[in-house]
Amino acid sequence: MNKEDTRDLRLALGSFPTGVTVVTSKDKDDNPIGFTANSFTSVSLSPQLILICIDKASFNIQSFSVGKHFAVSVLSESQHHISTTFASPDSDRFKNIQWEVKITGSPIISNSVAWFDCDKDQFIDAGDHFIVIGKVRGFDSNSQRPLVYLRGNYVNFGLEQKMLLAMENKNTKILVGALIEWRKKIYLLKDQSTGLLYFPTASRLGQSNDDVSLLGKLQNLKISVTEHYLFSVFENSDDKTSLIYYRAKIEDGSSVTIGQFYEFDSIPFDLLIDEPSRIMLKRYITERELDAFGIFVGKESEGKVEAITKSNDNV
Ligand SMILES: Cc1cc2nc3c(=O)[nH]c(=O)nc-3n(C[C@H](O)[C@H](O)[C@H](O)COP(=O)(O)O)c2cc1C
Repeated sequence: MNKEDTRDLRLALGSFPTGVTVVTSKDKDDNPIGFTANSFTSVSLSPQLILICIDKASFNIQSFSVGKHFAVSVLSESQHHISTTFASPDSDRFKNIQWEVKITGSPIISNSVAWFDCDKDQFIDAGDHFIVIGKVRGFDSNSQRPLVYLRGNYVNFGLEQKMLLAMENKNTKILVGALIEWRKKIYLLKDQSTGLLYFPTASRLGQSNDDVSLLGKLQNLKISVTEHYLFSVFENSDDKTSLIYYRAKIEDGSSVTIGQFYEFDSIPFDLLIDEPSRIMLKRYITERELDAFGIFVGKESEGKVEAITKSNDNV
């Protein structure tokens, strides 16, 4: 199979929606370990068996191969950031995460939708992964909405409804902005009097032939957007403006004369106009590295975002 076939196979496999879990255990020194996994599957009700697949290249493969227990926590919609943490390289993924132990001693992510605490039953060699079958020793679940993963994106079925409600409210002032990427570079405009950098915005998304809309403004800036995806929804609690940000990857940014594309690793974050823009851009870069995008709704003034969302592209 060549590289292109592998990519196509990934795309085809990604069209099967799954939940998102964190698979956890303890290493030989009793430290908690874990990684994000969507390969979780139920296997048998009697006996009670579940499985997950772990990449042979996993940093923790040794611990999972010799360990006698593991646990699976099913993440909720609001735990999207935990999925990102446990899929990103970090020596201490648990440092800002609440977790507890139940039966086997394996960490269980607090407030997850469901958890399964397991004895390891089988560890089966399967290509570039191992299949790990667990015998369920304890489990629980609740009615929170689970995080869903489809075509490289986290999906939130409640988003469209919430967006519609915000749009229908005539008193809501809406500002629409865009994170434009070209060759791993991000487009920012500069305020000439303050030197601060900001994303292009307009009062509506519109069309490229509508000069006052975002897509029209971008067209005038020589940025041609063919596909765009919802990325972030903030509320500025000072003036109650709703800020809706899209993300778009463009084919050619070479004719841009106003504004500039900044390489991911040389963005002057201290010059960004506000904290929410900084947070949003940092999240964009993290999620771009993983090719797994989420959409957030949050309060701009608090400078943090909470998970919500839906997106449907197949980058
Ligand atoms: C949504 C999602 C699902 C994933 N599913 C799996 C999986 O089922 N098995 C796996 O080995 N890696 C999976 N990964 C990748 C791992 O989480 C990622 O490679 C992680 O860095 C591995 O950490 P480790 O090397 O510390 O074990 C997934 C990543 C994401 C974002």
